[in-house]
Formats: sequence, C-alpha cells, structure tokens
Amino acid sequence: MVPTQTLRKHPPLQENLLLILHELQNGSGRNYLTEEDLQAVAEYLNITRAAVYGVATYYSMLSVKPRGRHVIRLCKSPVCDMMGAPGVTRILEELLGVAVGETTPDGVFTLEESACLGRCDSAVSMMIDGQYYGALDAPALARIIGRFRRG
Ligand code: FES
Repeated sequence: MVPTQTLRKHPPLQENLLLILHELQNGSGRNYLTEEDLQAVAEYLNITRAAVYGVATYYSMLSVKPRGRHVIRLCKSPVCDMMGAPGVTRILEELLGVAVGETTPDGVFTLEESACLGRCDSAVSMMIDGQYYGALDAPALARIIGRFRRG
C-alpha cells in the first residue's frame, strides 16, 4: 500500500519526483521502492512509469531492489581508494558474509559502494543509514557492525 499522504504532501509536479521517491523509500522502512510505489508516483505526477523507473534507478541512494534494514555505503572514490578502501571492502565482505551489492540472508545489512561521501578528510569513509563513519580499519569495522548486530 502506497502512503497517499506522502504523495499529497507535494503538488503533482514533475520537479517533485525525486523528493517524493526519497520520502516514499525512507518512510517505508523497506529501503527500496516497490513496483506499486513507482506506479503510484507515475499516476500522481501524470508521467510514464518508465520516467519514474529511470530516476529511481539513476540515483544510487534509491533502489528498486529489496535491501536490508541497514544500508552500508562504502566510498569507492579516489581518496578513499588510495587510503585503503579495497582492503576495507574485503573486511566488510568477510564480516557480513556477502559481496558488494548483496544483502545478508537475515535481511539486516546491504553492502553497497558509493561515490565520494564528502568526508575525504576521514578516509576511508562509509555511511550507514545516513550516519557517517570514518578512519575505518578492521577494529573499527568490527565494533560498528557489532553494535548494529546487537541492535
Ligand atoms: S573520496 Fe571517500 S569520502 Fe571523498
């Protein structure tokens, strides 16, 4: 069921498309947009479903694929890359038991890569559910993931 109050909070103008998609995704507790969401937005804004789908799949913050309760976005841009992002990726994949782009079988974490998070001064950086974490190394990652696992 698409929350119509989220749609009606904004005038049915195409310029509100991105904002509406973000609010639908973030307010759903699912971390992704369903087919039903895309269709409802297309009808509300009177644009094609393909146009909505195009935007929903263009921006990495949005997803049309089911994701975990917590989305980990690890920076893969040059500064973090030079500061050790490939090694941090391997540690995260090992801790979570999934590869980049996958969701843990318990549905708790999705591991994704991201363009620069704007926190190059604390590289290697990642974001979990909108919260930044920097200067990542093996002990820091174990501590952060452990904290999320304990809820
Ligand atoms: S390059 Fe990673 S936060 Fe900027």
